[in-house]
Amino acid sequence: MQAPPIIENRLFEPKFKRIPTYPMKRIFCLSALAFSLLFPSCYYDVEEELYPEIDCDTQNVTYSGTVQPILSENCLVCHSAAVNTAGITLEGYNNLKVYVDNGRFLGAIQHRPGFSPMPQGAAQLPECDILKIEEWITSGAPNN
Ligand code: HEC
Repeated sequence: MQAPPIIENRLFEPKFKRIPTYPMKRIFCLSALAFSLLFPSCYYDVEEELYPEIDCDTQNVTYSGTVQPILSENCLVCHSAAVNTAGITLEGYNNLKVYVDNGRFLGAIQHRPGFSPMPQGAAQLPECDILKIEEWITSGAPNN
């Protein structure tokens, strides 16, 4: 048995390997180019949708003046102390604070995955109401 001639192998191998890989490289380069052209414009569109400029005054937000009236109008029909739907009472600061602290209040009104979207059976709260509630919670959800 004789070993195959080395020189012949070296000459043939690169030639044989290059031919099939060439089109793949071209496809990769073209799609990379397409992505780099498309991505910035897509990103811009999404950002506009996610953060639309809305006129919403989130200054001087308080529990009694802001949050409580939103709850009275949209939530207490089901979550008052008397009705207590699903065992959830949001009437009164201390009762609400439980759901502020465990994150379910914000998760529900923001319609985040893993939470029951609230108010049930109605449209999501106006964006400005949600922003005001977020501001109140960010500032420590004071009983003011
Ligand atoms: C029409 C009745 C109704 C209204 C109005 C309503 N809810 Fe609910 N809520 C329910 C029911 C029923 C459940 C239990 C749903 C479930 O477990 O899927 C619930 C569950 C919840 C939960 C627990 C969610 C979770 O995923 O753990 C929170 C928090 C909540 N509601 C807050 C609110 C808030 C805040 C509002 C007003 C913006 C509101 N709800 C309006 C009926 C209502």
